[in-house]
Amino acid sequence: AGVRRYRWDVKYEFKSPDCYKKLAITINGKTPGPTILARQGDTIIVEVTNRLVTENLAIHWHGIRQIRSPWSDGTEGVTQCPILPGDTFTYRFIVDRPGTYLYHAHYGMQREAGLYGSIRVLLPDGVAEPFTYDHDRSIILNDWYHASTYEQAAGLSSIPFVWVEEPQGHNMTVVEADGHYVEPIVVQNLFIYSGETYSVLIKIDQEPSRNYWITSNIVGRNATATTPPGLAILNYYPNHPKRVPPTDPPAGPIWNDIAPRLAQSVAIKARQGYVHTPPPKSDRAIVLLNTQNKIDGYNRWSVNNVSFTLPHTPYLIALKENLHHVFDQHPPPDRLHDFTTYDIYGVVNNTNATSSNAIYRLKFNSTVDIILQNANTMTVNNSETHPWHLHGHDFWVLGYGTGKFDAENDPKKYNLANPIMKNTVAVHPYGWTALRFVADNPGVWAFHCHIESHFYMGMGVVFEEGVEKVGKLPSEIMGCGETKAFKRP
Ligand code: C2O
Ligand code: CU
Repeated sequence: AGVRRYRWDVKYEFKSPDCYKKLAITINGKTPGPTILARQGDTIIVEVTNRLVTENLAIHWHGIRQIRSPWSDGTEGVTQCPILPGDTFTYRFIVDRPGTYLYHAHYGMQREAGLYGSIRVLLPDGVAEPFTYDHDRSIILNDWYHASTYEQAAGLSSIPFVWVEEPQGHNMTVVEADGHYVEPIVVQNLFIYSGETYSVLIKIDQEPSRNYWITSNIVGRNATATTPPGLAILNYYPNHPKRVPPTDPPAGPIWNDIAPRLAQSVAIKARQGYVHTPPPKSDRAIVLLNTQNKIDGYNRWSVNNVSFTLPHTPYLIALKENLHHVFDQHPPPDRLHDFTTYDIYGVVNNTNATSSNAIYRLKFNSTVDIILQNANTMTVNNSETHPWHLHGHDFWVLGYGTGKFDAENDPKKYNLANPIMKNTVAVHPYGWTALRFVADNPGVWAFHCHIESHFYMGMGVVFEEGVEKVGKLPSEIMGCGETKAFKRP
């Protein structure tokens, strides 16, 4: 395996990708940033210099598990102090599995400002994928706002996307999701939620004298009045690549039609011959009720009535150095005491909701089930989609359901035979999603809604496991909060 070294200068620059000039965060002059292209087993070294002048920075390698390098996860407040303006920080990690992943800022709302890019990990030489194709292109979708991230931080949300190709007759065969092979399914629209990655095969089998539209539309929120669809041209040679297709771009699926989205989620299974079977039982089940509520008059998202806030001293350092006073030591509940009577269809006034930086501590090597339960927001008859992303692990997706999770009967319907493994999964409106993982990666790991503004508004939790097994922390991650004393040159 090789070593791939990158030097990145991160700064603000004026950009106008859609002819509207605004400040964007760039890496070496570009947004999205450079693609990391590597082979399985390679070591990636990224030296990041923060040239934002007045702003801190941290970069997360989304989908990379950081086995034996938990300090390189890039999660500000969880695994490292932020990189200060003018400082250079070196991320060093191994890409241990082939697949398509991404990287993005994990500090404040910098992702929406343009700090993101792709990671593509190829199979080792001589190993073949279980499907074939002639050409290979990658597309990364991000929300793009005209308002600054500071204005967004005041209230805008990012929204799940859908990539559509419908009326022009190209089907897509889904073959990979989050770095795992999928039992091939054919779709016309692919629903992609923030933080997910998919590989699809497209057969170029249509009338060749023209080009075709590729479009992305928003679902989950009614954005028709505010956000134009993303458009691209699928170029059939030898037509000119800019020749506009003769038809109108297709309209996307109806934004609030949940059924086809749930159906896609349920249809995604591990590919035969590549199934990793989950442990048959879990040691602990945590039911996380997702609610929107007010805390001290502010709109917040909460999980089991706890709205997450980041501590000033990162957990990984606090736990290794026994700084017990720097975050709330009372763990949040494994399920809300009144979960069974909670009305997920009502606008509930959660007067007990609080803000906290407490974390869940998991027994090392134990098997943990997480049930994410969605509910009504503060708006009558409204429930949103939340793509949840787990750092440091892949999890098995055991099942989805609509309505309230039934702890007695629903687990009997879990798919233990061929569940897909993922790192990001959608929780559909008024529904639940059950997942399982083994807490076998020593470190401290964020688990949160991947809509950047939702995490910013408290929609997340943090898991600790086996932190005593973590090796000596690099002093580079220190310097903030109570870790100043540990930063040695
Ligand atoms: Cu891709 Cu914690 O995020
Ligand atoms: Cu969310």
